Amino acid sequence: MMEITGHTRLYGIVADPVAQVKTPQTMRKVFEKRGTDGVLVPMHVRSEHLAVFVQGLRGVMNFGGMIATVPHKTAMLDLCDDVTPAARLVGAVNIVRRNEDGTLSGDILDGQGFVGGLRQHGIEPRGLSVFLCGAGGAAKAIAFALADAGVARLDLYNRTQSKAQDIITRLQGVYPSVPMSAVGASPTGYDLVINATSLGMKSDDPMPFDVKGLSAQQTVAEIIMTPALTPLLAAAREMGCRIQYGLPMLECQIELMADFMGVAK
Ligand code: ATR
Repeated sequence: MMEITGHTRLYGIVADPVAQVKTPQTMRKVFEKRGTDGVLVPMHVRSEHLAVFVQGLRGVMNFGGMIATVPHKTAMLDLCDDVTPAARLVGAVNIVRRNEDGTLSGDILDGQGFVGGLRQHGIEPRGLSVFLCGAGGAAKAIAFALADAGVARLDLYNRTQSKAQDIITRLQGVYPSVPMSAVGASPTGYDLVINATSLGMKSDDPMPFDVKGLSAQQTVAEIIMTPALTPLLAAAREMGCRIQYGLPMLECQIELMADFMGVAK
């Protein structure tokens, strides 16, 4: 580990609770790989103090930026001076850069992390027909990134269909040429099938959609990291599908977060 000196640049991860986060270790490896004199520290901040905490950081001149996670992703959007179109569309920010003049820029990298993770494993989403299950924050970010990557079709299935329809309405305004529909629970016929819900983390969770509709030509991707082999991925593998684990999305996202905060490559 590099020694912390007066030259070390500071970064943070702000969360409540924060004790469970693994990002300080993961980011340390990124800093070491890039030869950066930096440290990322956990910052345990309650929601009622977030605004004053962020306001104070604007004046910390050796502060490079922070990762925002539960429960601060939504509130952080309004505390930034500028945010990307993806963050605005999703309504959340998970990475903040402190610019030299003390202004703060925000982005959400879940979607780009997911697409980057696919590409690292040789799956190019451009031109694919996609079935995306879920309509929470993660699903929204992934939908945006897939539309941006040029998928041929993007259909959304969610338990609460109105939420899927809402995402589609917003996305169609930005990507009018990508066909999108809110559909039922059957993933039959799509090239790429994605679970972007929390279903599969608990052992008694139901399947997120109708797995009987899968066939061997399809790729099935997860965003859940623990367990690595969710019941959905196990069933998909059993049916001969190609599977994509949840971890690459995170691994890719850490690198993108370092890039966004200006950590030299
Ligand atoms: P995140 O921001 O992490 O994506 P979220 O906003 O709470 O989390 O979204 C959770 C997603 O999992 C939603 O798509 C949710 O479906 P609803 O919009 O219908 O709530 C889905 N989900 C969670 N529990 C579910 C369950 N028991 N059955 C079906 N879908 C479920």
